[in-house]
Amino acid sequence: MSYDLDHFVSDCRTILSRDPGPAGREEIRLRLEHLLANQDFIRQYCGDDVPQGLKLLYEDKDLGFQILAHVNDKARVSPPHDHGASWAIYGQATQYTDMIEWERADDGSDPARAALKPAKKYRLMPGHAGIYQDGKIHSIDYPDKARFVRVTGTNLDKIHRVRFDVKTGEIHRMTPQQAT
Ligand SMILES: [Fe+2]
Repeated sequence: MSYDLDHFVSDCRTILSRDPGPAGREEIRLRLEHLLANQDFIRQYCGDDVPQGLKLLYEDKDLGFQILAHVNDKARVSPPHDHGASWAIYGQATQYTDMIEWERADDGSDPARAALKPAKKYRLMPGHAGIYQDGKIHSIDYPDKARFVRVTGTNLDKIHRVRFDVKTGEIHRMTPQQAT
């Protein structure tokens, strides 16, 4: 039997109950890659016939993590942003996503303004997953029809997150479901 969503959910519960830290997240990243190798899963949740949108595949009432399918039709470049106190694991289903991590080039003392510099960039291809650890400033850049599955440590709509305007340096609070 191929590795399916139910199996992945069960593994996430087991792993995060034992180790919610970076080592546990790395285990989940590898399981997500295993799930993305299941072409039935890809077709059902991220295939060409699936209408575009953000779909909640699973939310864990006890541990708080979420599994979401980002079924995108149009290319997009997100602004740099953080996920507050939550981590996120992105697993590519179709096309690719460029994953960019940023660092503060200032001392972080101004709550309204920041200077950022890119620190790391890599391209996620189908079947591969990458982690943004908690608090990491990041952005994503993907072409048309790039679809991915994301696991977040908690519901991001419920926590304080910010995005950055690279040109002006302004820091803005993010509204629910505003970006990924
Ligand atoms: Fe994000």
